[in-house]
Amino acid sequence: TPKPVGESGVALREVRTVGVVGSGTMATGIVEVFAKAGFDVTYVTRSQAKVDGVRAGVEKSLEKAVQRGKLDATDRDAAVGRLTGSTSLDALANVDLVVEAVVEDLAVKQALFENLDEICMPGAILATTTSSLPVVDIASVTGRPADVIGMHFFNPAAVMKLVEVVHTITTAPDVIATVQDLCGRIDKQPVTCGDRSGFIVNALLFPYLNDAVKMLSANYATADDIDTAMKTGCGLPMGPFELLDVVGLDVALAIQRELYLEFREPGFAPAPLLEHLVTAGYLGRKTGRGFRTYS
Ligand code: 3HC
Repeated sequence: TPKPVGESGVALREVRTVGVVGSGTMATGIVEVFAKAGFDVTYVTRSQAKVDGVRAGVEKSLEKAVQRGKLDATDRDAAVGRLTGSTSLDALANVDLVVEAVVEDLAVKQALFENLDEICMPGAILATTTSSLPVVDIASVTGRPADVIGMHFFNPAAVMKLVEVVHTITTAPDVIATVQDLCGRIDKQPVTCGDRSGFIVNALLFPYLNDAVKMLSANYATADDIDTAMKTGCGLPMGPFELLDVVGLDVALAIQRELYLEFREPGFAPAPLLEHLVTAGYLGRKTGRGFRTYS
């Protein structure tokens, strides 16, 4: 049977089963997105406690979706039934696509992709959710850089519709077309871009967030007034400090540093206050304190 053809006219690879690696906020959200869309999802974390944690996180978010009338209870149960958790990457031997969402550390991601390269079947697509590292640095440690691509989801992944599809100079056209098509199947809006730090959204968003931190440090205005100004004046759902606390200040700092390294714009140097908050362990909502304190 002929393979379906994507919008670009390229024959698509078949994607029926999906693997997700990681146990954090993004991994949990991505597991939910694929399971809700009808894919069998095998997710791999480093411990049984984390396997259980991801499942609990997915169940909690699906329950929220049911309560908000976004999902019916039968579909929730079906989605939960499509989840398989494992502590071994060997569980990914037969999946068509792997989405990596582990810590934003190049050495960790490279070691993982070396393992995936050995374990996954030929033709499987290997996707990274990195938000700041060059995708080609991850692709190049594998023997199949043509099969490696970026799929950058946004936080919270279950709700935010955008996925940036990031191709490197080595990504095969059918891999790009397949992932673009796949985004539609999981109810996401894809945009496509090259492999530059920050892709589209973060390259524009983080210089603004960094400027907000500098404005606060200069005692120019309070965090509350800056947040209110941007929400009320620009119609944004969250002000810069609310958003930074949700994203995580450690993640924000890592992205800001990568942008600075790549673009060398003096204004992109991370605001000292952001550095200090991270050093102090005030990482945002996840630690109970960032620019604000949470109970
Ligand atoms: N499952 C499905 N739908 C859900 C849900 C869930 N678990 N939780 C909420 N929703 C839906 C709600 O039903 C609602 O839909 P509706 O408007 O059609 O009724 C919608 O999501 C909004 O939910 P709420 O009204 O309860 O909540 P808020 O009004 O507080 O909105 C938010 C939540 C959409 C997350 C909003 O706060 C927002 O847009 N925040 C900004 C998020 C953002 O900018 N993210 C990008 C960060 S940058 C990034 O991720 C890049 C990385 O590299 C750092």
